[in-house]
Amino acid sequence: AGAERGTTHRATADTWNMPGMVPERTPGSSRPGAGRLHSGTMTIELAPLPAPVETARPRPRIFSGIQPSGAPHIGNDLGAIRNYVRLQAEYEAIYCIVDYHALTSVHDPDRLRRQTREMASALLALGLDPERCTLFVQSHRPEVTELAWLLATVTPVSWLERTPTYKEKKLNQPEDINHGLLAYPVLQAADIVLYKASVVPVGKDQAAHLELSREIVRAFNVRYGETFPEPKAVFTSAPVVLGTDGVKKMSKSVGNTIEILASPDEIRRQVMSMVTDTQRILRTDPGRPEVCNVCQLHRFFGTDYEQIWEGERTARTGCVDTKRLLAERIIEHYAPARERYRELIAQPGQVDRVLAQGAERIRPIAEATMTEVREKMGLR
Ligand code: TYM
Repeated sequence: AGAERGTTHRATADTWNMPGMVPERTPGSSRPGAGRLHSGTMTIELAPLPAPVETARPRPRIFSGIQPSGAPHIGNDLGAIRNYVRLQAEYEAIYCIVDYHALTSVHDPDRLRRQTREMASALLALGLDPERCTLFVQSHRPEVTELAWLLATVTPVSWLERTPTYKEKKLNQPEDINHGLLAYPVLQAADIVLYKASVVPVGKDQAAHLELSREIVRAFNVRYGETFPEPKAVFTSAPVVLGTDGVKKMSKSVGNTIEILASPDEIRRQVMSMVTDTQRILRTDPGRPEVCNVCQLHRFFGTDYEQIWEGERTARTGCVDTKRLLAERIIEHYAPARERYRELIAQPGQVDRVLAQGAERIRPIAEATMTEVREKMGLR
């Protein structure tokens, strides 16, 4: 909507620079031919054109994806979703719930459908605005699977085998090392480049995938000519959020999450289970806020975290007090989103409409990219 604000010209910056249009009417122009009709001395000057107010300059495009793992946890929000919300104002933002990716681990159709809708509702509740960004489900724009195949043909297997997430997944689900797990980063690259997005808001755990996306883009561009921009990752100020165990990255598959839209009691239970500074054994022992995960999380839920840290350092407060306070702040912070989430979950038709419109809105971009790529690769 911002692109059309306050102008009837709807011209792009390029339109204004087209030779012969605006400059012809610019007083004092020294371009050849500029004074042909009006010799300066004989005519009154033409009224200058109004300044090109707010020409519709295309906003850079960003893309990000999130797995439909049910409702989001605090790592998703602090590491990525906050940025999705913030950046939708400045960029042309496209956000995707990646159900094809989820199939590499989830093989229960009802669960996949339910979790996809839950994640969509959660993202809307947390502030994604369908008027300002596009939210859609990955499988609703199936062109991405064709592009993933095409990108796979420029991707050496060795790049995929050395991807840290692939190695991790092989350990986590040894009985289900499917081909999709290996090809996962190729599909992720296809997600991004199908829309020629140049900026990708993600948590730090996705850095290796983003680097691989860049390498795949380079491999493609070298072989078939400059086609895709190399996508850049952007992080928040909390690029890695540790789980309640205080050791591993917060992740649904590890089971160490704080689910931000869960009931207040559930949030209290999850926060109270958090591991704090393991060297603080007695209540009177001084704490070390810089290594305590609870203290670190306080940074994002109040401006008084320095005082809270001081209380820990001097043993004025105990870990239990600090955790209770954190739980209440998280509950309060997400209260409006929780409320909105409940409403949206009760109106699945409304959420489905947003998702269907999202997929439809980006259809022309996906089709244009595919036409270009098929042509360049010799398929048409
Ligand atoms: P996913 O679903 O695991 O996570 C979604 C987003 O949340 C971030 N995140 C975290 N950030 C900080 N600390 C944490 N503990 C934490 N846990 C999760 C993730 O970095 C991510 O930004 N492969 C991706 C989904 C994907 C994608 C894409 C992302 C598919 N295609 C294209 C970007 C672009 C994933 O599984 O994210």
